[in-house]
Amino acid sequence: MSQSPAAAPAPSPASRRTPSSDKTLLRALAGERLAVPPVWLMRQAGRYLPEYRETRRQAGSFLDLCFNPELACEVTLQPIRRYGFDAAILFSDILVIPHALGQKLWFQEGEGPKLEALAGSGDLGRLDLAPLHERLAPVYETLDRLSSALPGETTLIGFAGAPWTVASYMIEGGSSKDFQAAKTWAYGDPDGFQALIDLLVEATSRYLIRQVEAGAEVLQVFDSWAGVWPEDHFRRWCLRPMTEIVRRVKAVHPDIPIILFPRQAGALYVEVAETAGCQGVSLDTTVPLGWAAQHLQPKVTVQGNLDPILLVAGGPALETGARAILSALGGGPFVFNLGHGIVPQTPPEHVSKLLDIVRSRPS
Ligand code: CP3
Repeated sequence: MSQSPAAAPAPSPASRRTPSSDKTLLRALAGERLAVPPVWLMRQAGRYLPEYRETRRQAGSFLDLCFNPELACEVTLQPIRRYGFDAAILFSDILVIPHALGQKLWFQEGEGPKLEALAGSGDLGRLDLAPLHERLAPVYETLDRLSSALPGETTLIGFAGAPWTVASYMIEGGSSKDFQAAKTWAYGDPDGFQALIDLLVEATSRYLIRQVEAGAEVLQVFDSWAGVWPEDHFRRWCLRPMTEIVRRVKAVHPDIPIILFPRQAGALYVEVAETAGCQGVSLDTTVPLGWAAQHLQPKVTVQGNLDPILLVAGGPALETGARAILSALGGGPFVFNLGHGIVPQTPPEHVSKLLDIVRSRPS
């Protein structure tokens, strides 16, 4: 029976797809212990896949790929088709936020991201929240397409960078070894730096709220450089802004599960698990497994943490590493993942091998 569009509201993204109770990632993030854990991998769409390299060539530049909903949807689906991961992560980048705020961004072949660096709080006037959603509209369209295109059992993950990690690129003008410019600004002019972090909290919260409305069923926030601060500064520049983002997103979408990735936060992972209001924490490779089982898993679902270089090495080292994680963390609420993103040198067949190990758990 057809209904007029006015009488029938569009189905919400959730109702277009399989009931959430059937999705393993949602079940694990709700605290369920599953005999076989859900598995997805950070950077599961990327240069290690020949089909990605082909689509990337068609798109032109990396940013053109991020802002082309048809092709971004295609590369998000590629690892799902090839491996049947339990979740698909939106194909985009954390640096679309500075771009949407008006900062010039480009990706130099072989060198990674470049931005027109902010030199201090005097440069904050160059940033503007007003065009945010208009500039990010292609990302929302990609999510909307993915909501219909994904297999029913696959969970759709949206994401953003955490304010500190994004700010570090905005100030350093790209990747950095020691974050000297960003940290010097934060130590020398904390009020000015706070203004940048506050702007990023606002932009990121709005962005993630829209991602949920466009179909994201889980959100992950990447604080890839959280591990460079003394503890009080970690609390101020990483923990507090991420907690505020969780609060703002959940004020609008109370049921959306959120995973935080404060990479290399060490013992401070406990404070994230206890105070940030998230459902999951993603562990980097250095987090000891027994410690995580004891101190984190009773509080939140843990995700991780295979060394991505084991996926390059393959062989018995890969098998031993994966089994150690499964036996230490597999009994609690757990999501299998890497401790950081897949690297381009990864042989695709090693990913198949890893999935065989994770999914055929000898008990
Ligand atoms: O996980 C996924 O499959 C989703 C896509 C995704 C990308 N970047 C695609 C990408 C996600 C979630 C990110 C997050 C991201 N981007 C982070 C946080 C996670 C992390 O890895 O620490 C950071 C710090 C960035 C910034 C960024 N983007 C850098 C430093 C680089 C260059 C490094 C590299 O691998 O070349 C990028 C580029 C980038 N983002 C690529 C991909 C697939 C490679 C670009 C290409 O195809 O040429």
